[in-house]
Parts: sequence; structure tokens; C-alpha cells
Amino acid sequence: MTVLVTGGAGYIGSHMVLALLDRGEDVVVLDNLSTGIRELVRAPAKLVVGDVADAATLKTIFQQNDIEAALHFAGSVVVPESVANPLEYYRNNSAATRALTAACVEHRIQRFIFSSTAAVYGIPAESPVAETTPAIPINPYGRSKLVSEWMLADTAHAHNFHYAALRYFNVAGADPEGRSGQSTPRATHLIKRACQVALGSEPQLEIFGTDFPTRDGTGIRDYIHVTDLIDAHLLALDRLRSGGKSFCANVGYGRGFSVLEVIAAVEGAAAHKLNVVHGKPRAGDPPALVSDPGLIKSLGWQPKYGDLDTIVQSALAWERTLRAA
Ligand code: UD1
Repeated sequence: MTVLVTGGAGYIGSHMVLALLDRGEDVVVLDNLSTGIRELVRAPAKLVVGDVADAATLKTIFQQNDIEAALHFAGSVVVPESVANPLEYYRNNSAATRALTAACVEHRIQRFIFSSTAAVYGIPAESPVAETTPAIPINPYGRSKLVSEWMLADTAHAHNFHYAALRYFNVAGADPEGRSGQSTPRATHLIKRACQVALGSEPQLEIFGTDFPTRDGTGIRDYIHVTDLIDAHLLALDRLRSGGKSFCANVGYGRGFSVLEVIAAVEGAAAHKLNVVHGKPRAGDPPALVSDPGLIKSLGWQPKYGDLDTIVQSALAWERTLRAA
């Protein structure tokens, strides 16, 4: 039995593939390499280069492999890009998820794990946010993911199909064994960019907004180590395999750090003062987003890497690896 990992050549997907291989599972990766990196897909995982939205590619994969579960990471993730180019986001995130879900139903694949996002909450009315907090996204990225969640829920209602939608908070850090990490050169994530500035790959870090209604005026996020996020997927997969019902859960730790606090952590880890400039808020950015992790913890999730310094140190170590390559 084989697990299909879409987006397995990307940042989070490549960590998923490593974790599955570590458990001795068979893995097929589907990735169009638009942002993914071929070298991050380690043997014996098999890489199919193609698009998730392409029904013919999906058909071939399902015919040639004994796929038991689909783990769907492929998608577009940059909020301001989604504001500028919404139709691309509805194609890459919503239409592609529809194509994969339809192929799963057709080929009787009953287990599906979906990479959703905290962006579905928009500017939440309460903090921390629980799954019961109304999901009112404020940007096309969040909406394109929420549409997919609805599709999965409706499909699970109508067919013998079970899914877990995991709403990621701000994923950061790298594989503790140094085998993978955030490798996209033009990545927009704060911790990645701060590490690039610390190592001199980028000249300066711009703070997007210093006048938010937060403790120091900068945006607050619940940064979560990629390895803990992957553990949540393994838990979800095992749960669906043992007959567990479909569910939707936040994956974050329940604490937030401001942009200034992240900058201080990176400066400490790199022993280097960052060149920082103050800029305007980005389109579609909420002031604060912190998870209530009660549900995923009640299912057995036990995160191990929640310390901000640990997250930043692993991100910095990976950035050094990239520079040395
Ligand atoms: C967003 C999504 C998240 C998604 C991620 C993928 C929301 C609420 N969240 O996270 O679900 O997984 O994109 O990219 O839409 N910042 C700076 N300077 C920088 C970069 C970032 O000040 O150079 C600030 C941002 O304004 C924000 C925080 O740092 O306050 C984190 O930003 P970022 O790492 O880009 O992630 P989000 O936009 O929060």
C-alpha cells in the first residue's frame, strides 16, 4: 500500500515524505516543481512531475500504484500574491483539490489529509482561535482553502471517504537531522527571511506594519515547528486508518510571538544584529493569529519543538546548508 503525497518536493511536503520513509511506508510524490525542488524528494520515494489539477496524470498514478491515502500539500501559499492573482489561487488550491478528491472517489481511496490554513479565520473575533470560531477569511488564499474544506466535508457526507483538514498556523524551522528545510529562494515567510538577512543573503528585513493593536505594534503569529506539524499528519493518518471519523483541527501551539520578538530570537541565534526597516502592513495581513490547540491535543498530539529559539536555530542551520551548497 502506498501513500500519495502531492507537493512532496516542497517545504512541508518534503518533511512529510521523510517522516513516512522513516516509518518504512511506500511513497509516491506528485509535484509540478513550480516551487518544489526535485532533490528534496529522497529515494525510495517515487517522484511524478505533474499537476494535481490534471485528471489524466491522477488517473495514471492511481492505476499504476496501490494508493491507500492521499496527503494533499500542493498549493499556493503567499497571501499578497493571492490578493493580486486570485484566480491562480482558486485554480491551484480549490480546483486542484476538487480534481484530486474526484479521483480519490473514483478510485475508492478513502483517506485524505488536506493542508488547510489558519488564514481561513480572517481576523478572528476571539484569540486564541478554536475550530468553532467562525471562519471568515479576508484574502483569496484563505477563501481558496476554505472552499476546499467545504468540498471535502460534502464529499465525506456523500461517499465512503474520510478526511482530516489541518489548519496550519505559521510553519517554520527545518528537519532536526538537517535533511530538508524551507528552500524557496523567494520565500516570503518571516523566519526564513530574517535568517537570510542574518546570513547576508538578503540586505534587509522590512517589518510589515508597526501600528497593529498588539503588545508592540507588530503582527503576532503562532509559529510552529515543521516536525511537530508533520507529527500531526502522522497522527491524522493513523486515526483515519483505524476507522476514525473525518475531522478538522488547528495545528499551532497556543502562543504567539510578535515580529520584533522573532527578530530578537534570530539575532540571538545568529549573534548578528539585523538590518531592519519599518514598512506598511501587507494586503490581507491580520494583526494576530494564535491557535487554540485543544482539539488536536485531545487526539494525542504531543509537540516537541515549540521553543522559539529551537525553531529559529533549525531554520538558521538549514539556511547555512543552503548557502554552503
Ligand atoms: C500566511 C498565512 C499562513 C500561510 C503562510 C504561507 C494568514 C493569516 N496566514 O502567513 O496560513 O501558511 O502565509 O506563506 O494569511 N512579516 C514581516 N516581514 C517579512 C515577512 C513577514 O514583517 O519580511 C510579518 C507579517 O506581516 C506577519 C508575520 O511577519 O505579521 C508573519 O508573516 P509570514 O511569515 O509571511 O506568514 P503569514 O502571512 O502570517
